Amino acid sequence: MMQYSQLLDKKIYMKRIPEPFRIKMVENIRMTTRAEREKALEEAGYNPFLLPSDAVYIDLLTDSGTGAMSDRQWAGMMMGDEAYAGSRNYYHLCDKVNELIGYQYTIPTHQGRGAEQILFPTLIARKKAQGGATHPVFISNFHFDTTAAHVELNGAKAINVVTSKAFDTTTYYDWKGDFDIDELKKTIAEQGANNVVAIVTTVTCNSSGGQPISLANMKAVYEIAKQYDIPVVIDSARFCENAWFIKQREKGYENKSVKQIIKEMYQYGDMLTMSAKKDPLVNIGGLCCFRDDEDLFNEVRTRCVPMEGFVTYGGLAGRDMAALAIGLEEGMNEDYLAYRINQVAYLGDRLREAGIPIQYPTGGHAVFVDAKLLLPHIPGEQFPAHALNNELYLEAGIRSVEIGSLLLGRDPETGKQKPSPMELLRLTIPRRVYTNDHMDYVVEAFISLKERFSQIKGLTFTYEPSVLRHFVARLKPIK
Ligand code: F0G
Repeated sequence: MMQYSQLLDKKIYMKRIPEPFRIKMVENIRMTTRAEREKALEEAGYNPFLLPSDAVYIDLLTDSGTGAMSDRQWAGMMMGDEAYAGSRNYYHLCDKVNELIGYQYTIPTHQGRGAEQILFPTLIARKKAQGGATHPVFISNFHFDTTAAHVELNGAKAINVVTSKAFDTTTYYDWKGDFDIDELKKTIAEQGANNVVAIVTTVTCNSSGGQPISLANMKAVYEIAKQYDIPVVIDSARFCENAWFIKQREKGYENKSVKQIIKEMYQYGDMLTMSAKKDPLVNIGGLCCFRDDEDLFNEVRTRCVPMEGFVTYGGLAGRDMAALAIGLEEGMNEDYLAYRINQVAYLGDRLREAGIPIQYPTGGHAVFVDAKLLLPHIPGEQFPAHALNNELYLEAGIRSVEIGSLLLGRDPETGKQKPSPMELLRLTIPRRVYTNDHMDYVVEAFISLKERFSQIKGLTFTYEPSVLRHFVARLKPIK
């Protein structure tokens, strides 16, 4: 039999790539009865966000802050230097960012949205000072929901121009995270380049299914941005997974290392925001970094102090920064990435074999089930993917998350439900946490539900908050 490393070299993939780690510590999880789950879901207002995690057996709500740290990261934590100002862990983190990403200036933040909240108003203020941004807009392949929220909270508009291929879940396409370049050019022309505060390149593109963006597309976006002097922010939550896909799929990169690819990706950006709770394998943390713009770095730092904390800790403990610096590099390990992406593909392939429609191919961090195709009898405004989430919980104690009409919300001007192009259920896989036996269990749950899909009922609100409603809304099944 070939060695594992040879298989990797030759890119011949086994159906299941074993975990490239040993399990040294475990967290027990509780199995529940159907009666317990029925009671818990009713008490949670039929909203799995409101379930206590103790009532959940397999938690696929998010890959954010739910990963398992390594022995090296825990050891790093023990050596954290807890200084308010000038922690050595801060300087070490800056060195690591510089070495691995090639950006000179680093601000730690408590998580990704912390970086957004200090960067975006600074960018808008800067554009205004230059005489622009009378109608400020941000353009992205797809703004994550908190990213769009920070754009809107600052009086700007968030416009998405992802390729329309992303919306055709059943047809294979390598780069469902790409910008639609024509649409990008058109949007800049329509809005006026002077109003475009920034272009946000999200790697991977969470909202379209953790789908990768190609280097060719990142480069094209950057060249257009430079033509109009628009800054490019790389939203970096899953940058290592994106680099792995580039290595697998983009011509000319098969023999480059993931580390080399990452360096190249960041040449097509001027700054980054990062939720370190994903690829960098920590349970809390974020980054806001700049390639070389020292003035902007200083302006953003000034905002960091009242919002996140002093500039050398930004909402993190010294030990958190130590774990982050180590995780940043571990997240780039190619044996780990092969196993990681393979686990997601494994779940996706098994679901497809069972006849469950998914966003295909699978992306980096999750399998997105197409609930519009699976439950065509439930209209968008009755939240088919959310209904499926509840049913999966009742059946097997699995919690996932709706990415569709419930998340999208209402048009603030008309009060009507915004039409959602997709109704997806995201089965999000935490890093280094679950085994493929857990994945098999998820597939079995879908198979046992199969005969009852047509009987699943839609939902209606009993309590609907006016903003970000999906987190705390309460609902009931329609009889
Ligand atoms: N950008 C992207 C692409 C994200 O996916 C997230 C978070 C953020 C920014 C914000 O980062 O949570 O650290 O403040 N995504 C999580 C998710 C919450 O479940 O997809 P954060």
